[in-house]
Amino acid sequence: MHTLFEPVQYGSIATSNRFVMAPMSRNRATKHGHATALMATYYSQRAGAGLIISEGIQPNQVGQGYMNSPGLHTLSQAKSWQPVTDLVHTQGGKIVAQLMHCGRIGHPSLYPSAHQSVAPSAITAQGQTYTQDGMKDFAPPRALTIDEIHATISDYVQAARYAIMGGFDGIEIHAGNGFLPHQFLANNTNQRQDCYGGSIENRTRFTLEIVAAVSDAIGAGRVGLRISPHNTFNDIAETDTEQLYSALIQALPTDLAYLHIMEAASRTTSDAIRQLWTGALILNPHNRWEDGPVTPAIADKVLQQDLCDGVSLGALFVANPDLVERARLNAPLNDMDDSTLYGGGAKGYTDYPTLDKVAQAV
Ligand SMILES: Cc1cc2nc3c(=O)[nH]c(=O)nc-3n(C[C@H](O)[C@H](O)[C@H](O)COP(=O)(O)O)c2cc1C
Repeated sequence: MHTLFEPVQYGSIATSNRFVMAPMSRNRATKHGHATALMATYYSQRAGAGLIISEGIQPNQVGQGYMNSPGLHTLSQAKSWQPVTDLVHTQGGKIVAQLMHCGRIGHPSLYPSAHQSVAPSAITAQGQTYTQDGMKDFAPPRALTIDEIHATISDYVQAARYAIMGGFDGIEIHAGNGFLPHQFLANNTNQRQDCYGGSIENRTRFTLEIVAAVSDAIGAGRVGLRISPHNTFNDIAETDTEQLYSALIQALPTDLAYLHIMEAASRTTSDAIRQLWTGALILNPHNRWEDGPVTPAIADKVLQQDLCDGVSLGALFVANPDLVERARLNAPLNDMDDSTLYGGGAKGYTDYPTLDKVAQAV
């Protein structure tokens, strides 16, 4: 059995250990979606993780769902990532860009272009989102036309090319957590009557076409896919989860860098996917939500059980830039400050102390 401290190969991406920093939106990019020097500091501080998955990055303007989220749809955005990826590489880490198109999740008041969101079908998400004017109901999206679906897939391809140009080691397509690809997968959000809606084959088409197109562009060994079966976040209600994901996984090219599961309280589904999927698997283990954030002990256990090849951790990487070192030494962990997660500056972002800083302070 493997340990967290052993190297692993995800397709074309070789990493020095099996810790993965989970993708986390921190909303500190510029209002035009550029990465900043502070973001370079933040990610490089966490380069002890074998692999960092970046925060969600919109592949086109309409895919933006939150204020100050970064983009990869212009050349200048691509270039803004170079200092980030260079610093991570200097520290011996690897980093992939998570391409996150939010679809119907968002609000026109959040974006520079005040655009209306798009979705498979014109169905408004129940719930609210945080805006400059406080919490607001999600706004009604409009349904994408077939031509717009094809254009969106091309935008993913361009964003993947920009990611490689900006020095990323690969990309992760976010097909979970109720964002656009998930909105196509789930039957409550996809009520299309054409070849992108209805049957499981049709609902998986959008995700599979993105995977195929970006793989053609940058090589399958640099492409990961994140899914979150059973996750109801962002008003998703899947009624055929087991059949849906088993069809999706069986149709995926097996030479992808990795498949990444955000587990939503269903270990049975993760087990079933492990059996079906022959490629590398990264797990964000949440067998029971009440267990709280993924700990190194949980990560170690799922590796020992051969449930996956790498384990992603979110909250603990926010609060512990040197999480891997702390895990190695079995050292105490910092607490996370919830109030500084989204937006703002260095506070709660790049100022969490490492072990040596803690030692100096004593
Ligand atoms: C502040 C924050 C932002 C997040 N943003 C994203 C995101 O952009 N993309 C994504 O796939 N998941 C996102 N997540 C979910 C995490 O990747 C992860 O699945 C979740 O935090 C559970 O793992 P944990 O218990 O180790 O924190 C976010 C989580 C947090 C805490």
